[in-house]
Amino acid sequence: MRFAKCVSAFRPSPIRGMMNAVINPNVISFAGGMPGNELFPVEDVREIIEKMPRKEMDTALQYGPTDGLPRLLKDMNEWMTKKGFDMSKNRIIITTGSTQAMSIVTKLFVDPHDVVLTEDPVFVGSAGAFCAYQADIIGVKMDREGIVIDDLEKKLARNPKFIYMTPTFHNPAGLTYSRERREQFLEIMAKHPDVIILEDDAYGELYYDEDVKSEIIPMKTYAKNENQIIYTSSFSKIFGPGLRIGWMIVPNEIYEAAEICKQSMDACTPQFSQMLAAEFIESGRMERYIEMLRKVYKERRDAMVNCLHKYCPEVEFVTPQGGFFLWAKMPEGVDEKELFTVCAEKGVVFVTGDAFNPEYKKNRYVRLSFSNTPPEVIERGVKILAEGIASLRK
Ligand SMILES: Cc1ncc(COP(=O)(O)O)c(C=O)c1O
Repeated sequence: MRFAKCVSAFRPSPIRGMMNAVINPNVISFAGGMPGNELFPVEDVREIIEKMPRKEMDTALQYGPTDGLPRLLKDMNEWMTKKGFDMSKNRIIITTGSTQAMSIVTKLFVDPHDVVLTEDPVFVGSAGAFCAYQADIIGVKMDREGIVIDDLEKKLARNPKFIYMTPTFHNPAGLTYSRERREQFLEIMAKHPDVIILEDDAYGELYYDEDVKSEIIPMKTYAKNENQIIYTSSFSKIFGPGLRIGWMIVPNEIYEAAEICKQSMDACTPQFSQMLAAEFIESGRMERYIEMLRKVYKERRDAMVNCLHKYCPEVEFVTPQGGFFLWAKMPEGVDEKELFTVCAEKGVVFVTGDAFNPEYKKNRYVRLSFSNTPPEVIERGVKILAEGIASLRK
């Protein structure tokens, strides 16, 4: 087959490859970054559809504007203004999942073998989007407070087109950048005004500790160089990923190119999903739903943290203050790939850390997702994980 050159650069997602195991009800899955199935607002969606006037239903089933359903764009403008974004300098584009925002940014800025900086570890879905356009990905180290500034300065010398980051409730690292680290990062980036910052905030609404709220304000809302930042977020974790809706906030000068770029990808984001989202927001359901999610996911986060302390005291991790993931460092001598095999045989799966390394390097970490598993099942799963670790340490 005479495939295009870019095909050999595709980066398959190991998590997508595990989808059969992840959705198998007999498997305890800490693998996918999936919302809890039983938590989806199914009754709300049913009610919205039942009450949707015929005219709105016609619009929902029709093609729509590339940048988004006007009604949803208005809602999002209000919401993002309340969050602190300057909407006179920026515009919103509703995207087909925030994954599409990653693709749009890469297509706009990256020629084959241009450098893109990411954090190390990096979310595989975004890395996949960058690789699809033949970007050369270079990882920048992270510590407990975020990106390591010395390493960032070193890697900026490679002349990247943009840097991708998830400063809040990182996937997979579960970390949140301190305010101080964000300021240091912005100061360095201000010296490189032609390097775009792609700020991914997919989990920002899902905080479980009140004291983290002052840290997690999006950088684009207060950066002096906010014009350098493209912000993206998603309805996937606060409504449903099956709807495939996300959004990006782009500086006015980038907007037109981004909109035309999206035209060539999908003409428009599903109107039906956008209509549901607009009604979900306007009726106040979304706010109530997110409140509920915070409570349930906090219980799951606590269950996983407590079980790890109880059954796997030698595993190291930083307690995530929001989001879906716990990034666990295995004890010396435990090979994470072997651990995966041992645990999978006993019906527990997770993702090994090499999947999130820009160069697929092994790193002794595993990503444990707690979002789609109730506390009592988390306990069973962590016990099996502990048995697996113990069997490999003998
Ligand atoms: C950090 C991060 N960004 C983006 C996404 C993609 O979300 P979407 O479903 O909106 O494409 C995810 C999904 O897991 C994610 O974890």
